[in-house]
Amino acid sequence: MSLIANTTVVRGRFLDIQQTVSEPTDIPNQVRYLEDGVLVSEHGKIKWFGAWEDAQTHLPAGVEIQHYPEQLIVPGFIDTHIHFPQTEMVGAYGEQLLSWLNTYTFPTEIQFQDKAYASEIAQFFVQELLKHGTTTALVFCTVHPESVDALFEAAEHVQMRLIAGKVLMDRNAPEALCDTPETAYSDTKALIEKWHGKGRALYAITPRFAPTSTPEQLERAGQLKQEFPDVYVHTHLSENKDEIAWVKSLFPEQAGYLDVYQHYGLAGKRSVFAHCVHLEDQEWQCMHDTQSAIAFCPTSNLFLGSGLFPLKKTWEKQVKVGLGTDIGAGTSFSLLQTVNEAYKVQQLQGDKLSAYEALYHATLGGAKALDLQDQLGNFNVGKEADFVVLNLKPTALQELRQSKSKSVEDSLFALFTLGDDRNIEATYIYGNRAYQKETAK
Ligand code: GUN
Ligand code: ZN
Repeated sequence: MSLIANTTVVRGRFLDIQQTVSEPTDIPNQVRYLEDGVLVSEHGKIKWFGAWEDAQTHLPAGVEIQHYPEQLIVPGFIDTHIHFPQTEMVGAYGEQLLSWLNTYTFPTEIQFQDKAYASEIAQFFVQELLKHGTTTALVFCTVHPESVDALFEAAEHVQMRLIAGKVLMDRNAPEALCDTPETAYSDTKALIEKWHGKGRALYAITPRFAPTSTPEQLERAGQLKQEFPDVYVHTHLSENKDEIAWVKSLFPEQAGYLDVYQHYGLAGKRSVFAHCVHLEDQEWQCMHDTQSAIAFCPTSNLFLGSGLFPLKKTWEKQVKVGLGTDIGAGTSFSLLQTVNEAYKVQQLQGDKLSAYEALYHATLGGAKALDLQDQLGNFNVGKEADFVVLNLKPTALQELRQSKSKSVEDSLFALFTLGDDRNIEATYIYGNRAYQKETAK
């Protein structure tokens, strides 16, 4: 009986990328499209995946087949950079990064010292992720350990694979948002021991960015990374020109912004740096050499006027990259909308972003950026069964546009351009339907 309860069978049109690649030109060779496919999951993992015509002997007896004949099923979207406490402040007017932080962000984050408030927003946040087809995210909390508990509890409730951590910040911020090198260390250590590897939760040591940590605090962050090598490091890097100049004045003995993190042992395979809009040549090299990853956050970079991220360089320099919404500097929870803006950011630089490359970054490439390519990102047997059922025609305009589509690729590109949460029909987490769009009454 329990085996049946833990088994899900979904039939429909499936699209994914079969393998990670090192050249964008290899992506089309890895596209897998099953016009009539079946995915069988058991205890959260993909047990069988293939064509309907080959599925008969793999279908468990007595399990209802969830059939989506019209929709498109893709791996769950992966958001490699987002702030859950900033959910309520999306669309704060008129500032660039540093004044935006002081004017809007810090006052908002102070509220998260209250666990009940943090839990309320964390639950709302997890529902927003599901509603937008996002099944894994790398998330900033606030400086308060309670905010981390609140988020992991909300994610645990739906069995979501989430990476998150307490912000470390001991200068250049309001008193109420500052910890110390000592409490940063002891609170983070306690949270790692409580959450890292519990269910699907993973922990990230999270210094906000170099300007808000003293050298002593960055030293303690590096010590934590040494003591817990398989936890993540998550921070911001080279987002805005004034920020970069400020870092150079605060750390004159370091060669540049990334060198600050590198000096304290914070660059590496499980380090994710949000933005990286203005990296210098030696910093690109260091990102490659240390196997660090970038979270590209186009809606945020446009909203704060930070600059245009050169996505093409990630291929040239072989640096891992995923997509980030960066809520609340970013303006949408939707990875579809994030791709829409990512495409325009490349157009402004004379580059392109194809539909299949975009799908790669939003799924398997994002998983690779988070060092989770063996667990997430496509429908390979053994991976965790996180996926999204997309309605390609939720509006009159999309219905018309899709009716003119001549290929899967064109259909996907139109989806990225016009799509948002209206397109998310259902979101499956660990084999279970965790979100179902309500049909209009
Ligand atoms: N740099 C430091 N903190 C933040 C933040 O909260 N949002 C963004 N976009 N950049 C930052
Ligand atoms: Zn951010």
